[in-house]
Amino acid sequence: MSLSAPRSQGWSTLSVVLHWTIVLLIIIQFIDHEWMSEMWRATRRATPIDATTETWGWVHIIAGTLVLVAALVRLWDRFSHGRPPYPEGEPSWASWIAKVTHALIYAILILMPIAGLVAWFGGIGAAGGIHELMWTPLLVLIALHVVGALTHQFWFKTGVLKRIFVPGTV
Ligand code: HEM
Ligand code: HEM
Repeated sequence: MSLSAPRSQGWSTLSVVLHWTIVLLIIIQFIDHEWMSEMWRATRRATPIDATTETWGWVHIIAGTLVLVAALVRLWDRFSHGRPPYPEGEPSWASWIAKVTHALIYAILILMPIAGLVAWFGGIGAAGGIHELMWTPLLVLIALHVVGALTHQFWFKTGVLKRIFVPGTV
C-alpha cells in the first residue's frame, strides 16, 4: 500500500467522522466477540444457540462489515483529498513509525472483516482461524497508535490531537 497521499488543510469532516465511527465499532467488537465465537462454534457443530448469542453474533457481523466499509471510504478520502502533513515538530523516525502503524492498522481493518465474511458465508474454518489471529496484532497496533498520539500531543507538543477532532485543523 502506498503511504503517500496529497497534502491537505487538515482532515476532512468525513475522515474525522469515520475515524471515530471506526473506534466505536471496534469497541462494539471488543464487547461482542465472545458471542460471535459461540455462534460460530454452534453453527459448525449444528447445535442450538440462545437468542442473546444470536443477536450479538449478528451485531458482530454487521459492525464488522461496517468497519470494512468505513476503512475503505476513509482510504478513498485520504488518497483523493489528501491528509494533513506529518507535524514538523517531530523527529523523522517518529513520522516513520506513525506511517508504518497506520498502514498496518488499515491492512487489518480491511483483511480481518474479509476473513470473517469468508469464514461465515463461505463456511471456511481456516478463514475463521486467520480472522482470529489478527485480533491481538490489531490491539497492539491500536495501543501503539494511542500512545503515539498522546506522545505527539504532550511530548512533541505538535497539537496533533486537535486535528483528529476538528476538521480543517493543520
Ligand atoms: C480503534 C481505535 C483506533 C483506530 C483503529 C485508529 C486508526 C487510525 C487511522 C487508520 C488513522 C489515519 C492515519 C492516516 O490515514 O494517515 C488515525 C489517525 C489518528 N488517530 Fe486514530 N485510531 C484509533 C483510536 C485513536 C484514539 C483513541 C486516538 C486519541 C487518543 C487517536 C488519535 C489519532 C490521531 C491524532 C490521528 C491523526 C494523526 C495525524 O494527523 O497525523 N486514534 N487513526
Ligand atoms: C474489524 C472487524 C472485526 C473485528 C475486530 C472482529 C473481531 C473478532 C474477534 C475478537 C473474534 C473472536 C476471536 C477469538 O475467539 O478469540 C471474532 C470471531 C469471529 N468473527 Fe469477527 N471481527 C470483525 C469482523 C467480522 C466480520 C465482518 C465477520 C463476518 C461474518 C466476522 C466473523 C467472525 C467469525 C465467524 C468469528 C469466529 C471465528 C473463530 O472462532 O474461529 N467478524 N471476531
